[in-house]
Amino acid sequence: MTPLVYAWPGREALGAALVDALGGEPGRLELRRFPDGESYVRLASAPAGRHVVLACGLERPDDKCTGIYFAAATARELGARSVGLVAPYLAYMRQDARFRDGEAIASRAFARWLSSSVDWLVTLDPHLHRHASLDEVYSIPTRTVSSAAVIGRWIATNVPAALVVGPDAESAQWAGAIATAAGCPHVVLEKTRRGDRDVEVHLPALDRWRGRTPVLIDDIISTAQTMATAALGLRETGLASPLCIGVHALFADGAMSALDAAGVVRVVTCNSIVHATNGIDVLPAVATETAQMLAAFAASH
Ligand code: R5P
Repeated sequence: MTPLVYAWPGREALGAALVDALGGEPGRLELRRFPDGESYVRLASAPAGRHVVLACGLERPDDKCTGIYFAAATARELGARSVGLVAPYLAYMRQDARFRDGEAIASRAFARWLSSSVDWLVTLDPHLHRHASLDEVYSIPTRTVSSAAVIGRWIATNVPAALVVGPDAESAQWAGAIATAAGCPHVVLEKTRRGDRDVEVHLPALDRWRGRTPVLIDDIISTAQTMATAALGLRETGLASPLCIGVHALFADGAMSALDAAGVVRVVTCNSIVHATNGIDVLPAVATETAQMLAAFAASH
């Protein structure tokens, strides 16, 4: 039987890409809130005997986790052969250590919960900093898709004489791979975070890169303080005003105004999260990896 893909509202494009790549069928999913705020979930297409794929990004995760849990549990109860989650953005990866006594290590707790809810997971560029891979925290099979090649192609096509700039040490992994794919040089800055909306960025000597267009790259744009502070620093060195590319467009309140105020000429993001700045299509890569994940999972179960 062909896989059944249940796409969350707003994630129809992801659902369609998955149906296409898996040779699957769209499943009908009913989601709503009761008047008291509790979640109602109905799998209106029967999952019995089918490999089930839930297509739901994990941005704003607290709004979605109950629905994912109920949908996965219901699919299992009704006889699904397997239940996988395709979440192009994977939440709770940044709180990956206990920085102060008593803090939740959200990356671990969330991974334990998700690993008990679904059979496999596909995601794109998870924020891996203190965890070397998802296998450190997830006990189910996972696959991670990299956006580097597609972002590199976008830069090569759209930005002549680019200089890829990673704003902090964590971004070195993406900046290097993207610069290689774009065929341009890259530099990495140093960031100190003092609070949710308070960061300081230190720049190395950049004189030799005058004449190039800086392209700031980060995996996540949330408050945009990282990008905005780095952009201001770059402009102060006399480099051209930068473009910003973010993989995951979380965009907390005030993020866009912060980037405007920092003199960023253009902001482009991948469509791992649906946002007005989306300009780089990563869904085909996510769908292809999902097809490989499901084929491997089905062969071994
Ligand atoms: C953290 O190190 C991430 O790679 C990003 O730099 C960070 O999440 C961006 O957050 P914000 O936009 O709030 O500065």
